[in-house]
Amino acid sequence: MSSTRTKLIKFLSENKATYISGQYLSEQLNISRSAIWKHMNELKKDGYEIEGKAKKGYRIISYPKKISENTLSWGLDTKWLGKTIIHRESLSTTQRLAHELALDGADHGTIVIADEQTEGKGRSHRAWHSKKGKGIWMSFILRPAILPYLAPQLTLLTATVLAKVFDQYESIKPQIKWPNDILINGKKLAGILTEMQAEQDSVLYVIIGMGININQVTEELPKDLQSKATSLKLETGQNLDMLPIIQDIIETFEAKYTEFIDNGFNQVKQTWENYGFKLKERLQIKTGNQLFEGIFLGIAEDGALLAKKENGTVEKIYSAEIAWF
Ligand code: BTN
Repeated sequence: MSSTRTKLIKFLSENKATYISGQYLSEQLNISRSAIWKHMNELKKDGYEIEGKAKKGYRIISYPKKISENTLSWGLDTKWLGKTIIHRESLSTTQRLAHELALDGADHGTIVIADEQTEGKGRSHRAWHSKKGKGIWMSFILRPAILPYLAPQLTLLTATVLAKVFDQYESIKPQIKWPNDILINGKKLAGILTEMQAEQDSVLYVIIGMGININQVTEELPKDLQSKATSLKLETGQNLDMLPIIQDIIETFEAKYTEFIDNGFNQVKQTWENYGFKLKERLQIKTGNQLFEGIFLGIAEDGALLAKKENGTVEKIYSAEIAWF
């Protein structure tokens, strides 16, 4: 039943602009037209707005507003990512629950998501503002068979997934700012926080947390960030349903992760560099007591930023204060 429902939602989502006939759906799904009709009614009860027109067929108008473990699972076309989804209305941070679950043996691919976080965490011990229902606050639990020093590759991979998902909106051009901010028009739309438990040469688990601003208007962003941060609503001018975006991120992540595990980092590196913010441009780097200028050449296998100094040598930068001109 849930796989029929998933297929039905997929068909409707892929044909949003047109009607699909009951006849076509019944042939594709191998069930009767009255079974299709019953499924449509079930979907409506769960908050999908579906229009049914005689002689034309069905069309999806909008998705359930309410995120839940059920609504997230229906229509989600993945093999392992999101097979277990833990949704809470409110959490201190999805990272904390994800760590607890991972230590308790949660499966590779488990997802934790919350409508709001009261202690959302950014990188470098900064706070991450996570207002109720305004954005996507979620963490993936992964158990990759990679060496711990290569874990940053997963952060870079996640950034390419988010960039690809947002690249589908006609009016916007996402960029990735090293190491892992997603920018639109130079303002931050999303951030990624990767945390890991590892031994000398093996990763026990990795938690990839992503925070994505979706429906905030300027006044709903913290005052000090209003000139530096943005939301998808601010960039597209539309209020957006979060459900299909979350499902798109999960499905794209699974596909790209599988490609990465099978074929290595090269494709990720290329995609990352295609979206790279200020690639081939000049930047100023401050690490410890060193201050120098260089050209941003790209990223290394281990996630380091590659900067070419004026004397021609190439430096690998792992963490630094960077001034982008
Ligand atoms: C950054 O750019 O500084 C990283 C931000 C990461 C925010 C996400 S929201 C989901 C997960 N839970 C958290 O507390 N942080 C990450």
